[in-house]
Amino acid sequence: MLKLVGVETYYGKVKALHGVSLEVKEGQLVTILGANGAGKTTILKSISGLVEPEQGTIHFEGKRIDRLDPEKIVSMGVGHVPEWRRIFPELTVKENLLMGGFLIEEKDLLHNRMKEAFHHFPILKKRKEQKAGTMSGGEQQMLAISRALMIKPKLLLLDEPSLGLSPLLVQDIFATIKELHKSGVTILLVEQNVNRALSIADYGYVLTTGKIFLSGTYEELLDEEKVREQYLGEGKYVRRSKLWSGS
Ligand SMILES: Nc1ncnc2c1ncn2[C@@H]1O[C@H](COP(=O)(O)OP(=O)(O)OP(=O)(O)O)[C@@H](O)[C@H]1O
Ligand SMILES: [Mg+2]
Repeated sequence: MLKLVGVETYYGKVKALHGVSLEVKEGQLVTILGANGAGKTTILKSISGLVEPEQGTIHFEGKRIDRLDPEKIVSMGVGHVPEWRRIFPELTVKENLLMGGFLIEEKDLLHNRMKEAFHHFPILKKRKEQKAGTMSGGEQQMLAISRALMIKPKLLLLDEPSLGLSPLLVQDIFATIKELHKSGVTILLVEQNVNRALSIADYGYVLTTGKIFLSGTYEELLDEEKVREQYLGEGKYVRRSKLWSGS
């Protein structure tokens, strides 16, 4: 469904992606793992057209999309839930959802999609007239996901949905993602919550400084000592850094 080959993306003169190749098959939940600054967000932005790769190709359902406008890419069925949610804080919950459905012209369809969102997240229905910026972090994340679902995407890009949420809400969000996947949405999930992400994913890519350095299934990646050391809190390095930080 999605294929990146040798993607290189720059911010000015700074190269953020050094030839990234990856694949997401229809129906899969694929995760991209990596530390801060590795380039995870840049991969998602390159896919949804918010930044344009200098080299390489991106195909979605067989069509090349790496030179298309973001709006066109959305209309092809790629939904993007950005990092830190980025809902419109001054707009109400309902207005945020309408913004997500801006490409939908038929009123009935728009109405139905909103009903589906409320069915999925009943809290949003209760809060539909509330200003989105006054909702809790978890509620805002649910709204951000619902907003992207308004176009009924074939592929959903999720950028660190668990960021800044309490452990209980993180659990809720991962349960939601699992449910969405079960309902047939193909998902590309960026996470730093390695254990949780891998436990619901079919396949994972590990990114370091703009390059994929490992990929595999949950079991395969857990077998890799380097993954355990760097991302799962095991190994000498992590223990030492914990000591340094005094925790
Ligand atoms: N708008 C920008 N202008 C200049 N450099 C940028 C910009 N956005 C990102 N970068 C740089 O590109 C690199 C990759 O950033 P990116 O946001 O993709 O990382 P990330 O893996 O999503 O990190 P995090 O886990 O902190 O969200 C970093 O070195 C970052 O400083
Ligand atoms: Mg990021």
